[in-house]
Amino acid sequence: MFSGISRTNSLEDYHQESPGEVFIVIKWLIIVCFLLASCANETRDSPADSYVEKVPTTVLDAPSVNGANAAPINRAAVERGEYLLEMLGCGVCHTNGALVGSPDENAPLSGSDIGIAFTTPLLNENPAIVYAPNLTPEPATGIGGWTEEQIVAAFRQGEGQHGNSLVPVMPWPGYSMLSDEDAYAIASYLLHIDPVVHRVPDNVPRGKEASGHYVYFGVYEKK
Ligand code: HEC
Repeated sequence: MFSGISRTNSLEDYHQESPGEVFIVIKWLIIVCFLLASCANETRDSPADSYVEKVPTTVLDAPSVNGANAAPINRAAVERGEYLLEMLGCGVCHTNGALVGSPDENAPLSGSDIGIAFTTPLLNENPAIVYAPNLTPEPATGIGGWTEEQIVAAFRQGEGQHGNSLVPVMPWPGYSMLSDEDAYAIASYLLHIDPVVHRVPDNVPRGKEASGHYVYFGVYEKK
């Protein structure tokens, strides 16, 4: 009944361990291969290497109303518009520098030279990029020539001025529930701030190289 124990101590068993030595060699080979493979991975470029994480400013003071503006002022609506615009964070994208945490406080809401890329950084070396435009009432580079209806249609329905739909990086679907009263208050406010001359760069289609710098927006679900 103790035959099992006596057999582990027998010479025969030592002899039988030679296949085990082969396994040890194989095991070491696997470890070496694994180490080599992980070294190779370390030297391979990771898409994340080209990016710096940024903490953007999330709350910005909206610029004050310009009383000298020619259009008739409904002061209560304009003040409500200022309050809503601050709360909805429009300035974070529409103020130059704010996307990377250093807003240009001298030119609030006059558009961003920093683009927002919205196609995946893991696949597109040259992603599609949009630039948040100038929202001040400057006729040539801003929304100076727009009616309140056109402004509301843009930020509540995503209607561009050229029959185009605004890319939802501009979060208009999130603003679609704004009441008429609130939406028109925002539009009226925008038409009563100081105009700033500032033309943002043209949007860049996917595959084309952008001349300026940009940040990434997007939600990527692991497949
Ligand atoms: C997350 C960034 C972001 C936020 C927040 C944002 N926008 Fe925009 N907005 C954009 C971008 C980008 C565009 C351009 C989209 C395009 O070209 O398709 C845009 C376009 C617009 C336009 C059209 C302007 C033009 O010249 O075509 C208006 C008007 C506008 N936004 C108003 C607003 C208002 C009002 C708010 C706040 C209630 C707001 N946006 C918040 C990014 C943003």
